[in-house]
Amino acid sequence: MPPPTTASTAPTADTDALLDGLDVARERTLALVEPVCAEDLERVHSTLMSPLVWDLGHIAAFEDLWLVHRFGGEPMLRGEYAQVYDAFETPRAERGDLPYLRCAEAHTYLADVRTRVRELTDARGAGDGLLHELVIRHERQHQETMLQTIMLARLRDYDPRWRVEPPQAAGAAPTGLEWIDVQGGPFDMGAPAEGFAYDNERPRHAVDVPAFRIGRTPITNATFLHFVEGGGYQRREWWTDEAWHWKEQYDITHPLHWTDDGREWRIGGYEPLDPTRPVVHVSWFEADAFARAHGARLPTEVEWEKAATWDQDTGATRPYPWGSEPPTRERANLDQSGCGPAPAGAYPAGAAPSGCQGMLGDVWEWTYSDFRGYPGFRAHPYREYSEVFFGADYRVLRGGSWATSGRVATPTFRNWDHPQRRQIFAGFRIASDA
Ligand SMILES: [Fe+2]
Repeated sequence: MPPPTTASTAPTADTDALLDGLDVARERTLALVEPVCAEDLERVHSTLMSPLVWDLGHIAAFEDLWLVHRFGGEPMLRGEYAQVYDAFETPRAERGDLPYLRCAEAHTYLADVRTRVRELTDARGAGDGLLHELVIRHERQHQETMLQTIMLARLRDYDPRWRVEPPQAAGAAPTGLEWIDVQGGPFDMGAPAEGFAYDNERPRHAVDVPAFRIGRTPITNATFLHFVEGGGYQRREWWTDEAWHWKEQYDITHPLHWTDDGREWRIGGYEPLDPTRPVVHVSWFEADAFARAHGARLPTEVEWEKAATWDQDTGATRPYPWGSEPPTRERANLDQSGCGPAPAGAYPAGAAPSGCQGMLGDVWEWTYSDFRGYPGFRAHPYREYSEVFFGADYRVLRGGSWATSGRVATPTFRNWDHPQRRQIFAGFRIASDA
């Protein structure tokens, strides 16, 4: 997990707010595993994912390393576990074989590290706050990973206590095929130099973007079902060679959690497919084939970010699609609250100046782009966060999902995965040249 890029002139952090951020994150982590029995926490559910209890120990070990050791200058409480919980050293497929802490011990490790961090922070403040922020975001990001595992595990009747019903869309239900025109011209892309950001979001740089069109919302289940029923998975001409080979090899005929009889697995059980929600759990290959079938393509990363943040009236880049304030429940479906995507178009208050809706939250959106460093990229503080993944093997996803924390989901945040992966809460919107 990522280290922060340190700002050159960082202000002194609000220590109470950071400690509160740590507490709020922990409360959700514990609530997330509360409905899961020990056996299901310790079991490997998918070779793509760690056992859930590994994530718990890893969250503790990351905080132990960054806040007890590197920030506090003390030895790690459980340094002997550093190797077991090193995400880069131990690929997910191998984690089931590791001597990781089981449930009770993992909970104890979490609590012990947090107690020590609180003592250290009370005694000396949080410095510029960037390491505390890193640890908060890391725990938040693992909550999303754990929800991916919970989906793959098909845990029946999983019903977390924070769950609330998402709002309904007002007016005619979008399909995802409604177009927005975005003017050509330069805009500032990437995270600003001050504050917290990951290395791959920097430096901010001007990009001249030709005029383009992009979907007002992500593609909905109804629209994707039309593609499936219209032979979308049989029409060779809509698939690249690599995508077709993958689809044939694994006999892919619909999105990951759909059934053949009109239902989909959602958190806790099977439900009738909701035509109004964005399609989710599709691979880049499927998204690309759908776009080709509609004479379109996926948006490039540059186009996606411009549609999300560029204010055509002022020429400035906004921190969020709707302005400067952080996300709220009225603006975006984030923070796991609805346990799934909300209907497309349900958050008009979160619209970008371009008119695009749902840019943050609901579903991650596949972009056309490979994962690369921006001009002037500098790895910070080690190469294993971003740089080793740069290249043609990974595609970029943008915007966060319903399972992403509002603290993590910004329009400059870059996620990446292989084009065949479907465990991510990923959908897409389409684009084309103007
Ligand atoms: Fe991690």
